[in-house]
Order: sequence, then structure tokens, then C-alpha cells
Amino acid sequence: MTEHAVPRHHRPSRLRTFLFGAPYYPEHWTDDERADDPARMAAAGVNCVRMAEFAWDRMEPREGAYDFSFFDAEVDRLGAAGVRTILCTPTATPPRWLTFKYPEVLRVDRDGRRMEHGSRQHACTNSPLFRHYSRRITAAMAEHFAGRPHVIGWQTDNELNCHFALCYCQACQEAFRQWCRQRYGDDIDALNDAWGAAFWALTFGDFAEVLLPTDRPARSNPSHVLDHRRFVSDTTAAFHREQAEILRAANADWFITHNGLMRHIDYAAFARDLDVLGVDLYPAFSMDDHAIPFSADLARSAAGNFIVPELQAGPGGQVGYMHPTPAPGQMRLWMWQSAAHGADGVLHFRWRTCRFGAEEYWCGVLDHDNVPRRRYEEFAREGAELARAGPRVLGTAVDVEVGVLVEHEQLEAHAAMPLGNPSPRDQARAAHRELWRRAMPVGLVEASDGFDGLKLLVLPGFVMMDADLAERLEAFVRAGGTLLATAWTGTRDRCNRIIDHTPPGLLAGLFGAAVDEYGKLPPGGGRIELAGGAGVESGGWYEVLKPASAEVIGTWADGHYAGGPAVTAAAVGKGRAFYVGTFLTDANAAPLVAPAISGAGAAPLVDGLPEGVEAVRRSGDGRSLLFLLNHADAARDLTGLPPGADLLAGRDVDGALTLGPRDVAVIESS
Ligand code: GAL
Ligand code: ZN
Repeated sequence: MTEHAVPRHHRPSRLRTFLFGAPYYPEHWTDDERADDPARMAAAGVNCVRMAEFAWDRMEPREGAYDFSFFDAEVDRLGAAGVRTILCTPTATPPRWLTFKYPEVLRVDRDGRRMEHGSRQHACTNSPLFRHYSRRITAAMAEHFAGRPHVIGWQTDNELNCHFALCYCQACQEAFRQWCRQRYGDDIDALNDAWGAAFWALTFGDFAEVLLPTDRPARSNPSHVLDHRRFVSDTTAAFHREQAEILRAANADWFITHNGLMRHIDYAAFARDLDVLGVDLYPAFSMDDHAIPFSADLARSAAGNFIVPELQAGPGGQVGYMHPTPAPGQMRLWMWQSAAHGADGVLHFRWRTCRFGAEEYWCGVLDHDNVPRRRYEEFAREGAELARAGPRVLGTAVDVEVGVLVEHEQLEAHAAMPLGNPSPRDQARAAHRELWRRAMPVGLVEASDGFDGLKLLVLPGFVMMDADLAERLEAFVRAGGTLLATAWTGTRDRCNRIIDHTPPGLLAGLFGAAVDEYGKLPPGGGRIELAGGAGVESGGWYEVLKPASAEVIGTWADGHYAGGPAVTAAAVGKGRAFYVGTFLTDANAAPLVAPAISGAGAAPLVDGLPEGVEAVRRSGDGRSLLFLLNHADAARDLTGLPPGADLLAGRDVDGALTLGPRDVAVIESS
């Protein structure tokens, strides 16, 4: 059900300033080494830093002996230069005295190995003892910093579930039993039924017998696994919520954020306890121009406009790898690409490259030797541009007319029984990439949001279906929308059990077709002939469809089912419903999505954009901002643009402009 008038993907943040800066680790540097930092930051247009997420040992060196004087002085020194602070609760790195005294707070992996102190994320967020210490350090910091005007907000912890998400310690076993009790209203037979416990003598006589699923010795029950992943998401959010409540009680003006997006967290739920969601972006892991659009859109689908607490500045290096060096201009391009896709604040990771520790080659804005070079110059250019354009960007949200549906639980349901098939995330990425490549006003859309204003929806790999979602999808189509679903849709209920109807079950009426036979194909095997088109590669799976009211627009080209229906289209009310009997991949998304696009009534933001140029539009407050981003190494001539003013170059644009390599324009029109 919709819970808000504006769907998440279209909500601006309530930030009053476009945040710009860097995570800052003053605890790694001497007074002398840090002396120039505030002035250099101010000169680069920095308005905020993020501090202290790994500095618990500095703030509470011995149990109960709090000492915030170091960060007090830093907050003040930076504040005097106009640089404000986002503080962090330091719970990703509990100190040595805590884990030494209470080794039971350490996490335990699936094989029963207890984690050790010496890296990070070593303590279990479900341990009542660790929760106690987490609340205590949060309360001590909250109280201490409550009256400090230069502290503007907080990040809780750091990237919860980044290195470690599935803990098997005693506290987690106990917490899971409690969670199951609640979910099934203390009725063990309800749990037995929901998990299909009759299979392999899983039947429970009492909640006391419930254990975490370990896949040991053979694979666990997919319904049990799905509930476990729900438990992990719920309890991770609860850990955060405890801190957020303490911080809010201390100072209601602070905003609260957390940096994702990591595994096993439903951020649409998690973000109910946030003012603004954070998404850390490291595009050099793939150097794919679609990396930021997809991650940013995921964040936006969960919670609206977001901030980027960490955006790659230089190459990142950890023990076993080092990224390629971002080309000159790329860091700035990534910042504007983030803003185009809904960022209302960006911090480049990190201010200065550290000289020690596991990330001594994770390159920041400044090098190890503290000499400002090209990355600092580029960073300062971003700061200057944001000082002018930031206020125009704030208050606007990304325009979305074609959506790709996402829902966290679908990922978990799929992962519990994947059969080697592409995940809902893989298929969403392929569909989103194709719509983005065509410069369509595309966005990811959280399935619980309203669909008003959308013309086309892709439903990628939603294995689980329920009556409410099925009805809302049908209403969307009847009212004139175009829907496209892929193989395996609606084959399971919300417990991850297979349904008793012929797939796509609750949606068979809407698609006017049912699945008569299905099966796995070897990689690259199986081809579909689309009406009037060339052959299309399957996504490693075939479904032979049996049309009722639908028209067949694609057939299988080979196999014992050659000539059988593979893709159907049904006219329903004022709209159309397409069913594709295979999975979407990067190789087949273009031809398979094309029939749904034509006739859906959505147009590209700019016609005939040259290769390598991306267009995204944000609007609101009576203005419209068209972001044009050139990812190519060479200049590109653009035509067919709306008239307006380029906020970055400070020039009027009348339909055409040339963008240099890795350059950006933001055209404002009213
Ligand atoms: C993030 C993390 C940072 C730093 C960065 C570079 O995942 O939040 O603390 O580790 O990656 O690896
Ligand atoms: Zn645990």
C-alpha cells in the first residue's frame, strides 16, 4: 500500500544546503600535518566533513573514560572556517578493551568461527551486550555534542553489513527465535505451515527448537532462509533505530543518515528512521558509466533524494587490488552524475590518503605527502560550481516516466532458490541500463509506491506475488500503463513456496497467457524470433506460453518447443501487458523491451543523443534542470536541447552545445 502521497523516487530531501566535502580523519594526522586543512577546505568550497566513525578508541580509551576534547577542537577549528560536521557513531569499530573483556560480542560465521579484533565490523549488532555499549557511546556523544552549533547531523555506524551480514552467534540464535515467535503469533504450527516443514522432517514442536539456517550438511529450506534474511534486515534496522532515537532526543535539529547500500537490508524500511539516506559510490570497481545511475536510482527508489557520504576521488587500493586511476575530469563528472540522479549532497572519499592501515592506498583528494595536485584542483572546481548551482538543484527531483520495479524481498526470495538464474537485481539492471541508454526518463520504483505518472513499468524477476500487488499492477495497466514482466514472475507466494496455480498465477488473467512448459537452457542457448525482427538470445531459461486473450509476438526458434509462444502482448483496459518467457540480460534487453516502449507514450529526454552522452532531468519548484554528461574521451555536439541557461558554464543555450570530453552541462529552463 502506498504510505505517502509522493512516491519515494520523486521526493526531494529536506536539506537546506547542497552538502559538499569529504570524510575527514584528523585522528590520523599530527597538528602540523593538519594545520592547513580548514583553509584548504574552505578554499575548495567545502561546507561539511564527516568525522569519527572509526574513532571509538580515541573517544573512550578506557571503559567509561570519555574524552571528546580532540573532536571538540576539530569541530570548532573547521567550523570557524565555515566547514560544518556530520558526526558518526563509531560502532563499526568497537575498541580493544570491549572485545577483550567481552569476547562474546564478536560475530560468528556460518562455520562457527568467532571473528577477531583487528579489522572492523567485528561485533554483533544483535548482541544485547554490544547493544548496551552502542547505546552508551551514542548517548555520551549525543549529550556532549548537543549544544555545538557546527555539528549539523549524524551518520549512524558505517556501512552496516558491508563485510559481514549473517552472524550465527548465540545472541542471533536467540533473537531469531524471538523474531519467529512474533511473526507467527506464538503459533508453531503456523511456522511449520509457512516453511513447508513436512519436507525432510523439519517439523518444529516448539519455538525453542528453531535455529538459524546454515546449509549444513545440505541446503536449507528456502522459506526458512527467506525469513532469516527478513530477520537480518529487521534487526539491522533496529540496531540503527536505537541510535537514531538517542540522537533525536538530544537535538531534534540534527539530520540523521546512514551510508549504504549493502547486503541484506531493505532500505525502503530502514529509511523510515532516516532523514536522508546515504549511498556510497565507488564506480572505479567497474568503470561502467551505468554504475552510478543504477546505484543512485536504487537509493532513490528506497527513500527519495539522497546524499553520497563517500564518492570515489582517486583510485582505491586494498590489499589485493588497485583500481585504474580515474581520468582527469572523471571525479567531477561522477559528482555531477550523482547530482543528476538525485544526490542533494556529495562527499568525496577521503580528504587525504592515509599513510597507514589496510587502506593506505585508498587515494583521497590529497596525496600522502599533503601536496595539493590535480585531484584537489578538480575538487575545488566542483565546490565552486556547487556554490552557484547547488541552490538551484536542491528542491528538485528526478523525472521518472518509465520505471523498473524493485523490492528487496524479491532478491532474498530468489537467492534462497536461484537455480543459477539471473536475480531480480540482474534483470532490473539490464532493463534499467537499456532505458537509460535510450535517454528515457527512467527510474527504479519501489513496488509499494504508487504508480501515478508512470507510463511503462518493467517487473523483473518478482518471483513472489500477492493479491495486493497483483491488483495494483492490473489497475496500472487498465488505466493506460504498459507493463512488461519476465519469466518466473509470480511463481511463489510470500513464504517462498510455489503457488498452486499455473504461472504466472495471480497475474495470468492480466497477461492473458499462462506457462505451459519451462526449463533451463545452456548459457547462450535458445533463441526467440520476434515478430518482424531478428533472433534474440534467451536469458538461459525457456517458458512456452499458452495464450488466452494475449497475442503472440515472439516464438521459440529451436528446441523441442520450436514455434511455441515465447513473448505475448495483451490489450487490457487502456493499457498493454507484455510477458517475456525468458530472463532479461544485457544481451537481450534491447530487443525484448523495445516492443513495450513503442506505444507506451514515453519519449527520450533528448532525441539523437550521441554515443557516450547521458541525459537526466530533475524538476520542481517551477524549474527544470537538464543534466547532460559526456562520458566520452572526445567532444560531442548536442542538438535538440531545450532553450535555457547552463548553470555551470554560465551561458545561454539555444538548442545546441558542444560538450568537451568528460564535461557536463546543466541547463535550467522554466
Ligand atoms: C567504504 C567504507 C570506507 C572505506 C571505503 C574505501 O566501504 O565505508 O570506510 O573503507 O569503502 O574502501
Ligand atoms: Zn550475532
